Amino acid sequence: MCGIVGYIGQKQAFPILLKGLKRLEYRGYDSYGFFILGSKEEKFLLKDVGKISRASQKFSPSKIRGNIGIAHTRWATTGAITKENAHPHFGDKKEIFLVHNGIIENYKAIKEQLLKEGHKFSSQTDTEVIAHLIEKYYKGNLEKAVAKALTKIRGTYGLAIISTKEPDKIVAARMSSPLIIGVGEKEFIIASDPSAIIDRTKKIIALDDNEIAVIRPRKITILKNKKLQNKKIQFITWSSKQAQKGGYPHFMLKEMMEIPETINNAIRGRIILKKGLVKLGGIEREAKKLKKIQEAILVGCGTSSYAALVGRTMLEEYADLPAKYDVGSEFRYRQPVINKKDLAIFLSQSGETADTLAALKEAKQKGALTLGITNVVGSSQARETDIGIYTRSGPEIAVASTKSLVGQISVLILLTIFLGRQRKMTTKVARDILTHLEKLPLAAQKILEERNKIKKIAKKYSQFSNFVFLGRKYNYPIALEGALKLKEISYIPSEGLAAGEMKHGPLALINKNFPSVIICPSDSVYKKVVNNIEEIKTRQGPILAIASEGNKEIQSLADDVIYIPKTLEILNPILAVISLQLFAYYMAVQLGRDVDKPRNLAKSVTVE
Ligand code: M6R
Repeated sequence: MCGIVGYIGQKQAFPILLKGLKRLEYRGYDSYGFFILGSKEEKFLLKDVGKISRASQKFSPSKIRGNIGIAHTRWATTGAITKENAHPHFGDKKEIFLVHNGIIENYKAIKEQLLKEGHKFSSQTDTEVIAHLIEKYYKGNLEKAVAKALTKIRGTYGLAIISTKEPDKIVAARMSSPLIIGVGEKEFIIASDPSAIIDRTKKIIALDDNEIAVIRPRKITILKNKKLQNKKIQFITWSSKQAQKGGYPHFMLKEMMEIPETINNAIRGRIILKKGLVKLGGIEREAKKLKKIQEAILVGCGTSSYAALVGRTMLEEYADLPAKYDVGSEFRYRQPVINKKDLAIFLSQSGETADTLAALKEAKQKGALTLGITNVVGSSQARETDIGIYTRSGPEIAVASTKSLVGQISVLILLTIFLGRQRKMTTKVARDILTHLEKLPLAAQKILEERNKIKKIAKKYSQFSNFVFLGRKYNYPIALEGALKLKEISYIPSEGLAAGEMKHGPLALINKNFPSVIICPSDSVYKKVVNNIEEIKTRQGPILAIASEGNKEIQSLADDVIYIPKTLEILNPILAVISLQLFAYYMAVQLGRDVDKPRNLAKSVTVE
């Protein structure tokens, strides 16, 4: 959940680390720190609480000179938000310095033992035990001491470590926590995320679990169980411009504005319209197995879990495949009944969500065929699933997921057609969906261009202090997502519900101060949703409807209407969710919230 950057090369490390950390701020932003080793053995250890943007004013780059360094932006897990708890952490002799992302589960037992041995601790973090352990085992070779220390710890880590005794190297290690190494000109940049390094290089090496990298300015060696590993260089396809705000006031708005392109990227080169087929290179090698699959289970967390829920309905309706859905944090512990006849589909933007990865592990152990739908190339999920489809949505920096959800649903539509065509779906049905899917970027564009209408509506609704979001069938998960988006960035309590559930309890909440946002495009359940609208209207509840263009009837039922272009029922969730993302965004702006970095949250939840 934290961000790590490391640099070793010919250039001054501090400005490079600072820039990298600014890019990683979305991974955690409660405190930060740097360790830079100067050529004359000067040590610069700089830490503070607060946002990394303050570091530029606080520390003067001209005075912090050195070509090797590590840096960290923290999202507190163990230990409060204090300067002492900010990374880098160090051992007693101040010779070992390290930054860590992850959680050390057995840190208390290790700390107790180290305290008995006379070690003195300067923080309350779990991380600090690693520095002391490495120091304890250090006998002149950092990688050996790191390897030994890692045998003692249980948990997850992405680590970058410097010993002042060996100023020509950084040692990095990984276990279930992302870590990549950018390969530059006579330099290497270590990072927990590609966005921290794309300014300097697009060539990366992704560390795998149990690997230890020894990085010198012109050489990198990767070891696993003491054996040399031959790793391939991968290429980041994002441009550095893509990782910037691009002139928008917030990343969230920029990322929503990229949605038409996101849909195009997800479907580009994957549609054979004439034949009503899709081409998905990442799963075709298992086409035979996929044809025999008897049941699918879709798993994700947060927004990605709502994509999973949309996918479940698609697979059942169009691919004739029994499908279940779960969130990663439940799936991993509820002893799911799953076997080798099943397809387990994992959805994650980052590909690093701990609960989703643990669910993936569970499904693999039980023999299911695993399929990952992921945005980040080379991420843990992408590497650990048997087969996969990239969403190609590009970097998503705002904590609130927007375009990545659209990318996931677009890919799920393709997957539904792939699996459907292996079963009973006719060419005609497939072609119809694909034809409309190809037109969807234009429809999305229209909603985005008319965003000022939603801004006005948000201004009106920002006076309310509770919301309920309602939808049915494909739009039930979109109601859940509308509520999640609003609560996470505006802090307004909001609940998402299946519209039919209102009369089973929640209707008691409704009065003139409790608005309902109701997703009711013209589809197979429209009439049913209208009944739900009437139940609310009778109780004086304000109603904001998301309806299909051309629906005049809705104006007499709802107080306000956001229109979305007409499309097929299966594609409506994409258009509906864009309007709800914009609604949540403008509500948060209206309330003066920190839209891109909502309180208490981080972009990538790499701890349980
Ligand atoms: O990277 P992932 O898609 O696996 O992340 C899962 C959730 O943490 C994430 O979708 C979260 O709910 C959203 N950022 C909320 O907008």
